[in-house]
Amino acid sequence: MNDLHTITLERPADRVALITLNRPKAKNALNLQTMREITDLTARLDADPDVGAIIITGSDTVFAAGADIKEMRDLTFSEVHAQDWLAGWTALADVRTPLIAAVAGYALGGGCELAMMCDLLIAADNAKFGQPEITLGVIPGMGGSQRLTRAVGKAKAMDLCLTGRMMDAEEADRSGLVSRVVPTATLREEALTAATRIAGFSAPAVAMAKEVVNQAFETGLAEGLLFERRVFHSTFATEDQKEGMAAFSEKRAPQFRHR
Ligand code: HXC
Repeated sequence: MNDLHTITLERPADRVALITLNRPKAKNALNLQTMREITDLTARLDADPDVGAIIITGSDTVFAAGADIKEMRDLTFSEVHAQDWLAGWTALADVRTPLIAAVAGYALGGGCELAMMCDLLIAADNAKFGQPEITLGVIPGMGGSQRLTRAVGKAKAMDLCLTGRMMDAEEADRSGLVSRVVPTATLREEALTAATRIAGFSAPAVAMAKEVVNQAFETGLAEGLLFERRVFHSTFATEDQKEGMAAFSEKRAPQFRHR
């Protein structure tokens, strides 16, 4: 795709898309153009039936060092408020295809928030997470106070948001921020293996699994359990449910057709 300037797109495996943040001179800082490129591209990939999982990654040393401070520094309150600055990122949370953040190095501010918008967060052992906005005289604006608190609880979220300190991969793993930690050298391979595995399962079942887990953040337990059960019932309307259960009974690998 030649209309991409701040990210790149590869298709490293069948049904898998790999987006790489690509502003090395700015430590992959997320400017408005990056936001538009990521949200437009993920919306396009989400609509493509041949894409079953999307990986978002950075370099070996930096995932993203946050929102672009130099782009924001001279904005006034009226401007950020009128443009509802950063609201565009919510489109990423609407993507139904599983998103895998493969994070090596710094994931700070908006970088940490971008990783937290993804469904799986695979961290390299050199990853460092933080919400250093307080050091700039601002606060998190892309979910750092909300998604981080839900992921790691008030104690750690307050610590990161109030002190601006970074959390290494081991602490992030212990705190529940990341799905798993892998050696930096194998991050891409591990993310690709997870993406390929997910993309091979029934696409409607995968989308439903993502939807019901996310619902846990929005509803009470009884309502959430009812929602889960109803969505579970609806999996029986798919061809893939018949195929998956037939394949198990016949001791063969399923051939999912994603419908
Ligand atoms: C713009 C950035 C940037 C950023 C780094 N750069 N982070 N530019 N926005 N977020 C630029 C630097 O200015 C520098 O440009 C170049 O990238 C290399 O950065 P260095 O600082 O020289 O690299 P290093 O010493 O290796 O330190 C890496 C770093 C540090 C630890 C990641 O750059 C850093 O602390 N960055 C800022 C992290 C941060 O505060 N993030 C939160 C942003 S606010 P030059 O031109 O000098 O080479 C945010 C808010 C979200 O995300 C929403 C609420 C508003």
